[in-house]
Amino acid sequence: MAKDVIVACDFAGAEQTFAFLDSFTEEKPFVKIGMELFYAEGPGIVREIKARGHRIFLDLKLHDIPNTVKKAMSVLSALDVDICNLHAAGTKAMMQAALEGLTRPDGSRPLLIAVTQLTSTDQESMENDLLIHAPIDEVVMHYAKTAREAGLDGVVCSPLEAGKVHEACGGGFLTVTPGVRFADGDKGDQKRVTTPGEARLLGSDYIVVGRPITAAADPVAAYRRCVKEFLG
Ligand code: C5P
Repeated sequence: MAKDVIVACDFAGAEQTFAFLDSFTEEKPFVKIGMELFYAEGPGIVREIKARGHRIFLDLKLHDIPNTVKKAMSVLSALDVDICNLHAAGTKAMMQAALEGLTRPDGSRPLLIAVTQLTSTDQESMENDLLIHAPIDEVVMHYAKTAREAGLDGVVCSPLEAGKVHEACGGGFLTVTPGVRFADGDKGDQKRVTTPGEARLLGSDYIVVGRPITAAADPVAAYRRCVKEFLG
């Protein structure tokens, strides 16, 4: 798939989501559906957004025993999403099982990407809470390589890590990167941010952008600006 902007539809329910999507009369943005919206509305919202012609990244971050993840992925695969994800911390065996579950009888499947370490985890919490003592950058790269070995298609990471991930895992290994802000925008709770143009230069394959678009006075204009800056 070609590089693109994915809009994080972090809305509480279907009404707000469709009001937002209805404002796009010319383009069909690639949409990210997260836990909040999925748990509020159920799989019906995925089918409905798909039926409207949007591509979908279903961001549910699965993490369980391999057999459970395999079966859950099989259900998500039937929803015909384009990208789904899991935690690399679930181990290589879990990632391989997930891929098996995702693969349809005809051999097709959604792309599968891994979360390495959440950006809310820092060195201190990783050491104290998880008893992982390697430097966090090394842990992130190790998880990315393990995901690659398991056969996954890419990782969620910061645009600032995209180059290193491509070096370690190959240029075709996807980097899907949140933490993007316009140069003149509000950072909100994101700490290490880049602009869409910087993310392009750093090699991000997909940028995930939420509030700079969804909370803009003119979301369609903000989306177009983002696409223009990222795709050049
Ligand atoms: O509104 P904002 O642009 O910050 O939204 C970014 C989206 O990417 C949110 O849906 C957030 O949950 C998600 N995300 C993130 N950082 C990660 C993984 C996912 O911001 N490491």
